[in-house]
Amino acid sequence: MELSSLNKMVALLVLLLATLTTLSLAQGNRGSGGGTRVGFYSSTCPRVESIVQSAVQSAVRANPTIAPGLLRMFFHDCFVNGCDASILLQGPSTERTAGPNSLLRGFEVIDAAKTQLETTCPGVVSCADIVALAARDSVVLTGGRSWQVPLGRRDGLVSQASDTANLPAFNDSITTQISKFDNKGLNIQDLVTLVGGHTIGTAACALFSYRLYNFQNTNGPDPDINPSFLPQLRALCPNGGDRSRRVALDTGSENSFGNSFYDNLRNGRGVIESDAKLWSDRRTQRFVQGFMGQSGSRFNAEFGRAMVKMGNIEVKTGGQGEIRRVCTARN
Ligand SMILES: *[C@@H]1O[C@H](CO)[C@@H](O)[C@H](O)[C@H]1NC(C)=O
Repeated sequence: MELSSLNKMVALLVLLLATLTTLSLAQGNRGSGGGTRVGFYSSTCPRVESIVQSAVQSAVRANPTIAPGLLRMFFHDCFVNGCDASILLQGPSTERTAGPNSLLRGFEVIDAAKTQLETTCPGVVSCADIVALAARDSVVLTGGRSWQVPLGRRDGLVSQASDTANLPAFNDSITTQISKFDNKGLNIQDLVTLVGGHTIGTAACALFSYRLYNFQNTNGPDPDINPSFLPQLRALCPNGGDRSRRVALDTGSENSFGNSFYDNLRNGRGVIESDAKLWSDRRTQRFVQGFMGQSGSRFNAEFGRAMVKMGNIEVKTGGQGEIRRVCTARN
């Protein structure tokens, strides 16, 4: 055979292969409804879950505050530009520099998992999926129930501090909280369930000490705070004291994932205002009621379901975005 016809044949074969690959990719997208699916990396990176899990495990063992940090990171990623790891990008005026994200922790855990994954299966696993897995692993490591995490998110190219305004805030009214969640396709039950992530972690005095002394210029505390809980909070956050001191959001259980957070809400022991209002507003109270007391296993099951729902907010799949080589920067 002449060299030129061999070349032509090779060219044709390459073209055929490229066409087949494009077709199967398109079909893959249709099959998953353009979204994410469990087992997305089963042939391309079968060890992805154990690699992320061991990175999270060693970090949480060394420092338990990493667990709530990673859980919160996933929320803050999904609410801004969808779950696309835009929260991880570094640079001037990125999401990471915005006020609500200033105290986020656990970035180094995501980076460590990514480094390991780039050795094992280079260019395959998105940073957005690492964040989703790390959030699930944090819940499991603190005693919550596991769930299967659908994967296949692509990493976003845009991160702007100004976009973080739609994150729920510590002093949002219930109406505002409901509408911020509704804007992301999440209903009132999802809201009450996902805020239950506050069963682990802490808040700085700066976020709630205004409730303790001169709430709304009444010269007294927020009436939603149980009078028997007030001295405890005042001792932790003295008037004019250290505003960076951190206080458990779920009193008595800050490192253990479970439904005691809702019992605390019912008992006037919600620490931040937006949490406490979940009990005082009848639109959300009935869902708090459904999770309190003996309903711990219901909460644990619902939490996984709500996390999967949140994890699909505005995800980028198929040819959108990219698979970053390093989570803190675009390729
Ligand atoms: C919440 O607090 C922030 C910062 O202190 C303030 O700018 C904002 O107006 C408050 N929002 C509400 C609804 O009170």
